[in-house]
Parts: sequence; structure tokens; C-alpha cells
Amino acid sequence: MDAPAHIDRAAILAALDQVTDPKTGKGLTAAGLVRGLTIRGDRAAFMLEVPAPEIARYQGVRDAAEKAMAALPGVGKAQVVLTSEASGPAPGVTRVRRGAQVNPDPKGQMAPSPEAMRPAHVKKVIAVASGKGGVGKSTIAVNLAVAFARLGKAAGLLDADVYGPSAPTMLGVDGDPEFDKVLQKLIPLTAWGVKVMSIGFMVDEGAPMIWRGPMASSAARQMTHDVAWGSEDAPLDVLIVDLPPGTGDVQLTMVQKLKLDGVVIVSTPQEIALIDARRASAMFAKTTTPILGVVENMAYYTEPSSGEPLYIFGRGGARAEAGRLGVPFLGEIPLDQALREACDQGQPVCATAPDSAAARAFIEMAKALS
Ligand SMILES: Nc1ncnc2c1ncn2[C@@H]1O[C@H](COP(=O)(O)OP(=O)(O)OP(=O)(O)O)[C@@H](O)[C@H]1O
Ligand SMILES: [Mg+2]
Repeated sequence: MDAPAHIDRAAILAALDQVTDPKTGKGLTAAGLVRGLTIRGDRAAFMLEVPAPEIARYQGVRDAAEKAMAALPGVGKAQVVLTSEASGPAPGVTRVRRGAQVNPDPKGQMAPSPEAMRPAHVKKVIAVASGKGGVGKSTIAVNLAVAFARLGKAAGLLDADVYGPSAPTMLGVDGDPEFDKVLQKLIPLTAWGVKVMSIGFMVDEGAPMIWRGPMASSAARQMTHDVAWGSEDAPLDVLIVDLPPGTGDVQLTMVQKLKLDGVVIVSTPQEIALIDARRASAMFAKTTTPILGVVENMAYYTEPSSGEPLYIFGRGGARAEAGRLGVPFLGEIPLDQALREACDQGQPVCATAPDSAAARAFIEMAKALS
């Protein structure tokens, strides 16, 4: 439920207009600098997008804008994400507090990228993708990361779904990641033995995210590279990347700018999901990202009285699809109410119910991907 105190959108825009844009001398609203204003409950957030070279100059403006919003009735938390437009080479990034600063690559499109690189001190990067939304990518990404941690690996989870981050809820973790001035990197949060970064830590989870394509891509990219995932002495063994659904800009950027070791495709058994999975596989094949395998989620339901698996959506579709693609079938995850509840409560089954059928399947999957 929303907080009873109602935040007045017009009042926010008026307050932001009292903060002066140093460039034009106008108020921020009149200068067109208030983008993607989202209000939810007692939180208000927007993106302040400025030319890349001006980032430093606008940090004070960002703070003033946050203050102006926070002073309004009903506003419990005000957030301004400072981002830069695509204009010339990205400057050295200096981050402050919780602002996600974004320096889009002006040419961050389809081209193969010679500069593709993996984040520093990360040995392996595996993305979890699907063609269709809601098939359980995040559930699988989160549990896979926890499964790796249980196997003794140094594991990380990058929630690259800048449109609908779910890691904070699924892992029960939230907070403002600290910025390490020496490393010039954000320190990821840790949950269930997994290092985690999510745009949900910086912008309110659940608020509708209004990103333009290139900005979303570079937000995802920066969350990858500007984070201290590991160190010289303690590298990260594996980074799991939870991608947004589909085959859009963010996915392309991630596969092209990041040296992915491969991608795990998630599908549910229904034909319609399999068709989308095929589409996603085709995209990854085009970008020469290896497909490490296919996982079937919500594969069966265990009949409580008999303990028999019921294949309510049909059986074997994803396995057959893996066969068609010539890639391994990585396992079946049951449709399981306890798994769903565990996700909602931030209690990943791999950590809290390691003997459940779902957790065992995740552990096997992690072993297969090790
Ligand atoms: N095997 C399962 N059994 C029961 N519930 C599941 C299972 N897998 C996922 N869910 C539930 O289905 C919903 C969608 O799952 P999830 O958020 O992981 O999908 P997604 O593919 O990441 O979605 P999106 O495309 O929106 O990012 C969640 O409520 C999750 O708890
Ligand atoms: Mg998701």
C-alpha cells in the first residue's frame, strides 16, 4: 500500500524549478532537466541528465534537487540519479554517494566490440536470459549465484534488469553501496555469501523506470565495470548477470561490451515460451556468445498427496529445444510454492532449504557450469 501522505507531482516540479540550472539560469523543470520523475509511496526520484563534461558541475545541483524534494510534505526519500548524455568520450568517472552516473558510449550499438572486457578481477561471467518475461530468470540467477557460493566459489550477482530490478527483494538486501575513493569503485552489498549490485539499490525498486535505451545500457554497463567485484588477492570466481527479458538494447550491450563466458537460457515448457527462447538463442548466437545450456523452469508440479510429478504444461519441450540448439540441458526446476515464497521473502532456497528439489537442481546446475 502507498503511504497515506500523498506526494503532489506538481509541487515537486514547482520545487525543482526553484533549483537553478547553472547552464541556462532557468529552473530545472523549465530547463527540461527533470526526466523520468517517479513517485511511489513516500519516495520521489528522477534523472538529471547533463552533458558528460558537466557531470562534476552538476553534483551540487543534484544535492540541491534532492533537498528541495525532501522538504516537501509526504516525501520520505528523495533521489536524483545524475547521468550524462552521449556526448564525446566518457570522462573519468567520479562517483559520489548514491548517484548512478552514466556515461553512455555514443556508439554503443550493434557493432562487435574490440574493447569488450570483463570486469576487473572476475574470472567468469555467465548471463541468465530468456526471450519471454516472467519465466523465472531472476529466480534462477539469484539461486544460481547462491548455489555457487554454497559450492565454495566467490560468487557475485549483477542485477542488470535496470527496468525491473529484483535482486533486492529476492535476496532480502538493500542499502546504498559505498563508494571507495581509492579504488574509484562502488562496493557491492553482500547477501547469502553473494556480492550483489542492482540499480534497485540506487533507485527505488518497483518504481517504473523510464530509461532511454542508451542510458539503460550504460547504467547496466557501469554497474558491471564500476563495481569492486573482486581484488587481486580475492578475485570473484563467477559473476551471474540477470538480464532483462527479451532481446533489446541492454541485452545487446551486455553481450557486446562484456566478455560473457556464456549465457544460460531460461524457458518454461509452453510452446510460446520456447519460441521466445529460440529467438533469444538466435540473438546470442549472432553475437557469438556461447549458449551454455537451457533450463526449464516451472517444469512440473509435485502432487502433494502422491509425490508424483505432474507435467502440467507438457513435458520435455526445453530439453528438446536444447537438443535442437546442440547445447546442454541444465535441468528442470519444479513449479513450487515454497520457492516462490522464498523469493518474495528474500530467503533463497539454495541457502534456506538446500535439500528441496529446487535447491538440488540449482546446485547441480552450478556444478555443470563450474
Ligand atoms: N519454479 C517456480 N515455482 C514457483 N514460482 C516461480 C518459479 N519460478 C519463478 N517463480 C515466480 O514467478 C515470478 C516471476 O519470476 P521471476 O521474477 O524470476 O521471472 P523473470 O523472468 O526474472 O521476470 P522478468 O522478465 O519480469 O524479469 C516470481 O513471482 C517468482 O517467484
Ligand atoms: Mg527478472
